Order: sequence, then structure tokens, then C-alpha cells
Amino acid sequence: MNKRPTQQIYSDYTAEDFRVWQTLYDRQMPHLREYACASYLRALDTVGFCAERIPDFRATQEILRPLTGWGIEVVPNISAARDFFGFLAARRFTATCWLRTMAQLDYIEEPDMFHDVFAHIPLISDPAYCRFLEGLGRLASAHCEHPDALELLGRFYWFTIEFGLIREQDVLKIYGAGIMSSSEETKHCMGSDCTRRDFDIEAIMATPYRNDIIQDTYFVIDSFEQLYESLAQVQLAIHNLQLTIYNG
Ligand SMILES: [Fe+2]
Repeated sequence: MNKRPTQQIYSDYTAEDFRVWQTLYDRQMPHLREYACASYLRALDTVGFCAERIPDFRATQEILRPLTGWGIEVVPNISAARDFFGFLAARRFTATCWLRTMAQLDYIEEPDMFHDVFAHIPLISDPAYCRFLEGLGRLASAHCEHPDALELLGRFYWFTIEFGLIREQDVLKIYGAGIMSSSEETKHCMGSDCTRRDFDIEAIMATPYRNDIIQDTYFVIDSFEQLYESLAQVQLAIHNLQLTIYNG
């Protein structure tokens, strides 16, 4: 694995980095203008992202702070679940600050900042979205010693924040970051070769996922408030799981 930076030094970005950011941005935006949820498109304006400029985290955090109180925690690679959820509970979203190369435009195994920042960070300016994220982080942090609970909460995160769809005035839109940063998945999730199900906590928790393929199932919410309100039921499901484990 390459050695990755642990802090953003803006002057270290190369001409190729700017070209990669711009190419991915310009390629994805026509799809997102059509398929991304209104909250994301609004949030993209709020954080001031554009094709010509790789986001400067310091400037982005200045924008986020008064809106939601959240910040960006720079990490070199994907974090362990307990660390990741711990940062969410502390209102910090973990993000890499490096970019794939031009040769890796279409596929990269580990998330780079086009995924972590372009796809995730705009919605960190949305208070309703952040309320859910913080609540999930707190819930997971309270169970970080229990691998089974973390597995279920990981599924919950996966099928919402990463691969969630949302209904806006009866029209299907994307809010999941794993879709936002993938041109292939953006088209796939709107097509007829996948299953779209209404948001269902039990079904989500019973659905294992793979992170190396295009998804075949997506869950559709009505609002970010619905996600937040579902946390009480998620907590109950985790509690019941632990009772089952303890009682054999
Ligand atoms: Fe992600």
C-alpha cells in the first residue's frame, strides 16, 4: 500500500492531481445534476466545490463549522470501524487528502478524496444529515467492543450513507456517497438491473454487502429525518442481538 499523507498540504498537489479532480468532477456532474438529491446539489454550492479547484480543507471547515459544527479528520487510508464511528460521534468526518492517478480514473480499491470529499463532504453541511451521522456514530461507539453489533451497524451505514437512495416528490434520487463518486453506479442504481426496496431496518441488517462490486440492492428513504428517527429502532435491534448472544 502506498504511503499516504496524513495532513493536507495544498502546495503538494501536482498538475496531474488537478487534472484528475477536474476530469472526475466534469464527468460526474452531468449525471448528478439529473440524479443527485436536491440536498446534495444545494450542499455542493454551499461548500463551494468546483471542477477547477481541489478543495482546501481549511476553507471547507470554515464553511462547515457554523452550519453543523462538523470538521474533517484527515486519515491516510480507510479507518478501522471503531475509529471511524468514534470520529462520527465527535462530529468529524474522516477523509483522505490524496487523489488517484489518471491511470486509475475508473477504479481504485481504496477510497481517495474524490470519494471521501467530493461525495461525502457536501452533505456534512446539512444539519439533518449530520444529526443522523452523529447519532449513528454514538450508537456504534457504545458497542465498539461487540463485533456482531458493529457488523450490523456497518450494514446500516453502508445501505444509507454510502449507497442510499431518497424519494423526492416521488422521484428517485441519490444521496449515497458510494454512488455519487461512481459514474457506473450512478447509472446502474437508476436502471432496471437492480432491486430498490423501501427503507427497512430489519432488512438492511439482514443484508450482507460487498465493497468490491456494484451493488444489486438499494434502500430508499423519504428524508434524512426518517434516518435519524430510525436510530431508536436500530438501537433496540442491537440490544436484542446482544441479549441473544449473551443468552446463547
Ligand atoms: Fe465513503
